[in-house]
Amino acid sequence: MNDRTFKHTEAHKLEDPERLKWLSPADVLARLELREGMRVADIGAGTGYFTIPVARAIGASGRVFAVDLQSEMLDLMREKLEEPNAPGNISLHQGEATSLPLQPGSVEVVLYANIWHELDDHLAALREASRIAVPGGAIAILDWREDVSPPPGPPQDHRLPMDAVANFLSVNGCGSVLRDTVGQFGYIVTARLPLR
Ligand SMILES: C[S@@+](CC[C@H](N)C(=O)[O-])C[C@H]1O[C@@H](n2cnc3c(N)ncnc32)[C@H](O)[C@@H]1O
Repeated sequence: MNDRTFKHTEAHKLEDPERLKWLSPADVLARLELREGMRVADIGAGTGYFTIPVARAIGASGRVFAVDLQSEMLDLMREKLEEPNAPGNISLHQGEATSLPLQPGSVEVVLYANIWHELDDHLAALREASRIAVPGGAIAILDWREDVSPPPGPPQDHRLPMDAVANFLSVNGCGSVLRDTVGQFGYIVTARLPLR
């Protein structure tokens, strides 16, 4: 935890129905090139705003590994997963982005939704993403634009420029780096992870 960590006591903000208007999970999922049967790690999954749509998109033969530092966040997601018609292909893992509780080569996609700016050690996080991904696996970083003012979102001085995130991935061995704005306030950077 650091002073940028989004606290579980604020979790209601992640579930605010207004959020669907300015950040549609479908718009984000469209950039992930998900296919039936894929395995996806959602790092900093929170209450499952993206985890659950991803789980539906990859179908029963796929699996989402939802990781979060705060067990309280995972408890909130667990409640949602107990509802009728909730997807059954999500596993919850309490853990830290820089030492993930996941097996090497166990996912095709590693998603960081609104968490990258909260991390202290991006290089360690990227190394972990490469470790848990299959060769040629994808990384997707969704985060807040710094050229739009809060609220909503973290203070401006916590935000990371889209180009800096894209350049970070390029200089650290990622390929096919793409960047774009998404929703009203966000951007998404996608890339192929470096081989381990
Ligand atoms: C702003 S919330 C985003 C939740 C979700 N991805 C979404 O967009 O609705 C960020 C989440 O990342 C988690 N987080 C922050 N730092 C983390 C770390 N180092 N390792 C794992 N999870 C972390 C927080 O606990 C929080 O649940």
